[in-house]
Amino acid sequence: MKELNRRTANFTDSVIRRMTRIANQHGAINLSQGFPDFDPPKEILEELARVAHKGPHQYALTWGAQNFREALAEKQSSLMGIDIDPQTQIVATCGSTEAMMAAMLTLINPGDKVIVFSPFYENYTADTILSGADPIFVSLKPPQYNFDVTELEEAFKQNPKALILCNPANPSGKVFSYEELKIIADFAEEYDTYVITDEVYEHLVYAPKKHVYFASLPGMAKRTLSCSSLSKTYHITGWRIGYIIGPPEIIDVARQVHDFLTVGAAAPLQEAIVPALRFGQDYYDEFLRSYTVKREIFTKGLDEIGLKYTNPEGAYYIMVDVKEFGVKDDLEFCEWVTKEVGVAAVPGSSFFREPINDYIRFHFAKKEDTLHEAIKRLSAIYDKFEKTRG
Ligand SMILES: Cc1ncc(COP(=O)(O)O)c(C=O)c1O
Repeated sequence: MKELNRRTANFTDSVIRRMTRIANQHGAINLSQGFPDFDPPKEILEELARVAHKGPHQYALTWGAQNFREALAEKQSSLMGIDIDPQTQIVATCGSTEAMMAAMLTLINPGDKVIVFSPFYENYTADTILSGADPIFVSLKPPQYNFDVTELEEAFKQNPKALILCNPANPSGKVFSYEELKIIADFAEEYDTYVITDEVYEHLVYAPKKHVYFASLPGMAKRTLSCSSLSKTYHITGWRIGYIIGPPEIIDVARQVHDFLTVGAAAPLQEAIVPALRFGQDYYDEFLRSYTVKREIFTKGLDEIGLKYTNPEGAYYIMVDVKEFGVKDDLEFCEWVTKEVGVAAVPGSSFFREPINDYIRFHFAKKEDTLHEAIKRLSAIYDKFEKTRG
């Protein structure tokens, strides 16, 4: 038999999905794969029920239903502080996952270089492999996850086609400051580089930090493809609705890529989410408040147990430092925590390009009760470690 696509030879099983399977096998609380254990707002569910009866049930316009794009353009124009034309500057996609892949396939020729910050969300390596790009990794150094300006400039000097910016960042919880974004923007201008953002956690930035949309920086809208999603903001990770916002001439091509990849995001779901896109500020305030409480429950618990971590500035992940356990293989350590302690985490090495084994990632997108129970279980970690491995 002839060989399969060579690009896929470098793919590995997703470590996150693997940890989920192990969590299920052992009845552990799954704080590995980031999705909530609570329902979307009831207004969304009611609209979904209405749409189930009145439709649409056939293909939407391939680049997104008209009223979906209009509502999204209204919301994002006001948040991003730039005028977004719903007719020419939006593609609705199957989640940010497809948005990122379509953005890469729109911009990248095989052999082009792309800057990726490390640690990174695992899909970015798959995106670079599938589009034939060569990644140039730039370190975000724990525990503060800051980058070194000289290292970043060295990366830009290699003539990259694009830079991928996850802000707020998964897994680190870093929120890039205006000053940091300005440094990236100045290099992007100087070295004529596109920026592909992944801003799925745009509404999850904890005070006093503030989210700055990269496309809102002076001169950046013309070279930025802003990818995001409704998955996290409305607790609908299974609906698979995301989007790309960008300049008309690039979006024109991205629409074609998207059309041939998937035809379109689910028509009834685009319709059902329109009222949510018109929610007032109170929805987003309450959304952030509830996650601020979850972050507090989890970090207070970690403090009481004595585990070290970096307090996330945004998103809903937390990197816990497990150096003190003398971890050699963090995947094996996470499997042990899942089986013996009963809480599943993701080994940090799956996010780092560097040989770093000292961190494990939990997420806290769970009900408060679930988080309290997770902390209760984790409080036995030192004892169990002593008994079984010490
Ligand atoms: C940074 C980041 N981007 C994208 C996604 C996936 O988004 P979507 O559900 O819109 O495909 C996730 C999910 O965990 C994520 O953390």
